[in-house]
Amino acid sequence: MTTTHRTQVCIVGAGPSGLLLGQLLHKAGVEAIIVERQSPEYVLGRIRAGVLEQVTMDLLDEAGVGQRMHAEGLVHTGFDMLFKGQRHRIDLKGLTGGKQVMVYGQTEVTRDLMNARQAAGLPTVYEAEDVAIHNFDSAQPSVTYVKDGQTHTISCDFIAGCDGFHGVCRASVPKGAITEFEKVYPFGWLGVLSDTPPVHHELIYANSPRGFALCSQRSHTRSRYYLQVPLTDKVEQWSDDAFWAELRLRLDREAAASLVTGASIEKSIAPLRSFVTEPMRFGSLFLAGDAAHIVPPTGAKGLNLAATDVKYLASAFTEFYKERSRAGVDHYSDRCLRRVWRASRFSWWFTSLMHRFPGNGEIDQKLQEAELDYLIHSESGSRSVAENYVGLPLNFGE
Ligand code: APR
Ligand code: PHB
Repeated sequence: MTTTHRTQVCIVGAGPSGLLLGQLLHKAGVEAIIVERQSPEYVLGRIRAGVLEQVTMDLLDEAGVGQRMHAEGLVHTGFDMLFKGQRHRIDLKGLTGGKQVMVYGQTEVTRDLMNARQAAGLPTVYEAEDVAIHNFDSAQPSVTYVKDGQTHTISCDFIAGCDGFHGVCRASVPKGAITEFEKVYPFGWLGVLSDTPPVHHELIYANSPRGFALCSQRSHTRSRYYLQVPLTDKVEQWSDDAFWAELRLRLDREAAASLVTGASIEKSIAPLRSFVTEPMRFGSLFLAGDAAHIVPPTGAKGLNLAATDVKYLASAFTEFYKERSRAGVDHYSDRCLRRVWRASRFSWWFTSLMHRFPGNGEIDQKLQEAELDYLIHSESGSRSVAENYVGLPLNFGE
């Protein structure tokens, strides 16, 4: 027995992309059902970057979920670059004519979106098994899944593939119709979350001959730190003590001395990858967020890119239903990809500048330090870093 449902947009995946799309469509009066493989608790267990660009903040406000972000998020007007044992501040606000970023964890963004969806009584199917997409090369696509042993079919006008890098949507596109560009970096990030006050009130990105380190935060009492580690390292090899000792060695003397350590409440190793899919649309299927692209986390562009994809997708669907125009739908992929490639370039460049690459020698360390020295002393160099970090304007280059 198959139960059949009907909606306008079926969203696969209830990560930040799928949930934000659901909220924006709801505001615009477009119907959507979200189908998610995992439970809500599992989705909230993922820990990812937490730096929001102004465009992302505006979008969360537009979706009606910005309240807690404004109350609890931390506005940052700059960050530090550390190299040769010294820290130098990049004045984001001064260099970009007043722009700033918000430090607010992706987990909290997801929680706010989930709560808003639940409060509005919008349909989300969690723990959906065997999710599959069908006929997306036609105008009558559908999504099937199994829930509690029962097979369900959702027939819809559009499928939004918001199911992340390992999702089913991109994988269902015939190989000849898709081009994938990929670079895997020869190291990972070992991340630790701890209930300790952050070492500094702003973020510190550290280039050290021992490898990259990042001091980030979630609140005034919760810190997030990262160390570049070889891909062969296992998280079990890293005791909390070993982590703190290595972090100290990669920081400047003042930061190392003032670092407050404590028990980790999460510890994991994530690989670094640059990945872009072209195009992002196949007939009635539209990929958004990590399903279409991955950036390495240096610069924290992942969630911000997902948010702009979703902004374009929500307006494309809204135009389709409210103005009977296909223009947004037809331009979706090109519009997203320009921004995706720009952010991919910045994330790749920032990663290359800050990490120690296996096989590279002392000359490469010296060249990185010379580039950093140029960037912090040249106003145009610093401005280039700052304008990319806060996020290029939506109409950049148009
Ligand atoms: N069926 C249904 N849901 C699925 C399937 C499937 N076959 N496969 C994956 N999913 C779900 C995952 O369980 C997850 O909850 O899709 C969701 C995808 O969420 P994310 O991986 O968080 O991707 P996205 O919503 O695009 O978020 C992008 O995440 O990785 C970061 O830097 C990235 O911040 C950015 C953000
Ligand atoms: C984080 O807080 O997890 C974070 C912040 C900035 C980055 C990457 C990750 O560039």
